[in-house]
Amino acid sequence: MKRLVSGIKPTGSLTLGNYIGALRQFVKLQEELIDTEFFIFIADLHAITTPQERQALKKNIKSIAALYIACGLDPKKVNLFVQSEVQEHATLGYIMESTAYVGEMERMTQYKDKKGKQTEGIRTSLLTYPALMAADILLYDADIVPIGDDQKQHLELTRNLAQRFNNLYGDTFVVPEGFFPKTGARIKSLTEPTKKMDKSAENPKAYILLLDDLNQVKNKIRSAVTDSDTEIRYDLKNKAGISNLLTIYASLTDISIKEIEEKYKNSSYKEFKEDLANIVADTLAPIQEKYNEIISSPYLDEVLDMGREKASLIARKKIFKVYKRMGLGRIK
Ligand code: TYM
Repeated sequence: MKRLVSGIKPTGSLTLGNYIGALRQFVKLQEELIDTEFFIFIADLHAITTPQERQALKKNIKSIAALYIACGLDPKKVNLFVQSEVQEHATLGYIMESTAYVGEMERMTQYKDKKGKQTEGIRTSLLTYPALMAADILLYDADIVPIGDDQKQHLELTRNLAQRFNNLYGDTFVVPEGFFPKTGARIKSLTEPTKKMDKSAENPKAYILLLDDLNQVKNKIRSAVTDSDTEIRYDLKNKAGISNLLTIYASLTDISIKEIEEKYKNSSYKEFKEDLANIVADTLAPIQEKYNEIISSPYLDEVLDMGREKASLIARKKIFKVYKRMGLGRIK
């Protein structure tokens, strides 16, 4: 049996980028990979690398859990759990910090970006967080890790740390492979289409949240920045805005970009955007409906309890093995 692991940080509401780059992939893979165990979690320990308000964090944890299910993850097939409820993540995180070098952490582009935006009170964990991410993955001997492009460097580091640990202490961890969507691994901002779609952008028109009001969603697509040309053509360098919209269209419909270009070759940007606005709204409508159904139900807690039990069982065994390999504690 193979294993798949992935997670999402509960720092605010999820975006269409998270959906296309991650959630939608999880759901597809759940149907395709029948010989694989899934461990999908809410990465709350990662959220506290930057300040979080207590009530908001609690709310976001529950909200992501509900969105996982609302987007189509089946708790019978997938173990869904909250990262901090499985203590071994933090334990192995420390061991990974004791495997990684400071220079490696300082080279992570996400750290450099985030550090650049913040001048004071940068938390140590913002620097060491990729070690925790490595732990999240290696704890379950994951073979496959579905992620968006922005996490590629962290996955490379994870692979290096697994290999380094195996060389130092003997074969202990599976070296995981990343899985990136064919289209949509990097959804861009709707207002600045050279940047990643990110909920921390100042202008809310830059991103679509999965729980945004659907009229607002349509308006955000209609007002997305494009160029002064009229041709609907994929050209990342010269037509970043329209290319991003084509990517969103292709990701949500599973129609190739070539076919979409062909379909709209005699249409205006306005017509194309109108169709896309409807496609996005039609994708989000059933997700929101299901979300509202389950967000306050005891079912959500039952699912997360079950997930935690299953994950803990595997994690405990793995830590035992790691301690033994390293000579920690009194394990013979
Ligand atoms: P996070 O919470 O920032 O993002 C969650 C997932 O969404 C993807 N993503 C995107 N994909 C395409 N276009 C975008 N604009 C976009 N924005 C986000 C991310 O690539 C990611 O797959 N460190 C991770 C969470 C994590 C994790 C793990 C993931 C913690 N431990 C172990 C995999 C395995 C993070 O902060 O992702």
